[in-house]
Amino acid sequence: MPLISDLDLEGRRVFIRVDFNVPLDGSRVADDTRIRAALPTIRHAIDAGARVVLASHMGRPKGNKDPALSLAPAGGVLAGLLGCEVILADRTVGDGPTKLSRDLRNGHVLLLENTRFNAGETTNSDAFSRGLASLCDIYVNDAFGAAHRAHASTVGITKHVRDCAAGLLIAKEVEALTTLLKRPKRGFVAVVGGAKVSDKLKVLGQLLGKVDTILVGGAMAYSFLAAKGIPVGHSRVEEKSLQLVRDILRRADNRNVNIMLPTDHVVAQQFDADALAQDTEGEIIDTGSMGLDIGPDTRARYQAVIARAETIFWNGPMGVFEWPRFAKGTQVVAAAVARSSAWSVVGGGDSVRAVNESGNADGIDHISTGGGASLEFIEGTALPGLTALGWKASR
Ligand code: 3PG
Repeated sequence: MPLISDLDLEGRRVFIRVDFNVPLDGSRVADDTRIRAALPTIRHAIDAGARVVLASHMGRPKGNKDPALSLAPAGGVLAGLLGCEVILADRTVGDGPTKLSRDLRNGHVLLLENTRFNAGETTNSDAFSRGLASLCDIYVNDAFGAAHRAHASTVGITKHVRDCAAGLLIAKEVEALTTLLKRPKRGFVAVVGGAKVSDKLKVLGQLLGKVDTILVGGAMAYSFLAAKGIPVGHSRVEEKSLQLVRDILRRADNRNVNIMLPTDHVVAQQFDADALAQDTEGEIIDTGSMGLDIGPDTRARYQAVIARAETIFWNGPMGVFEWPRFAKGTQVVAAAVARSSAWSVVGGGDSVRAVNESGNADGIDHISTGGGASLEFIEGTALPGLTALGWKASR
């Protein structure tokens, strides 16, 4: 896969597809992790004398122009981080962006408006892809978070630009996730949580061939307990997935992978941020209660396993961490992963948010900017955005 650093960028209009799909609080960027992650590539292009054209999606406006999903706030943050002007186009393609891209001088930066304001983005339309391609001489994809989408700005455009390459963030993500899958140090612990077990079955299946221990948390843990016949009250259980969960447990047994499940819980009577939180005595959850976080014994057991690990992959919170009463499991895991001397990778929007909000980001070796993309990479799915750049999985 060619890299941006292989190309001569001076004086060329370089289209960099970034992932500025950042959480917004009104018109304020609530978390700028993804914008910071794109800086090395953008700075590289500026320093090399490129005329930089940036593009990203934001949210899911379904082809409609929605001012609440404008990239203007992200552009403001980027200008502050770069310490230079970022010119904002009010559209993605057409006369305005064409003129702005032609008028760019070496080292100047133009940010196009949200690619998904155009229906052709998600349908990977050839006309829209050509429109994007007409704005540049070189195409660079650095949007790892969107690499699992076969859209015009991640795939279609590559058919209409001769020189295409990956950015430095994509290179770093691919390197880290490949190391995790192909060269992990033994004592490999995966911490997997989140609400829906059905979203994680594929990744669990892949991990079974790689890891020594899997620590299960979040609502998906109740499906595992239910699959083993343990009463979980009215906790969230995905009945349809129980057979597949049993299959995972059987395969883990055959491969000597230790799947650890919660042995106690923080429960409440209803799904409510202000509900009374109680610790259970053991793994059984009474009828009338629902599990919303892992309990104190489980936290201590998981912490101890994480402390002994040599490689850690974490995806998905241990409980409803947005609610302080049910956040402890996730916070304890975040701190334990950060403190551990293991090589650690955290992926998935919620776990990354938990790591950032609990001030533990510095202790993590690789924080993936891809939620769905990092999971699909680990599942072994070929990501269309990488394939379009000529990347081939060597597994
Ligand atoms: C993400 O946030 O995972 C990426 O930006 C992709 O967004 P999407 O799921 O809306 O395609």
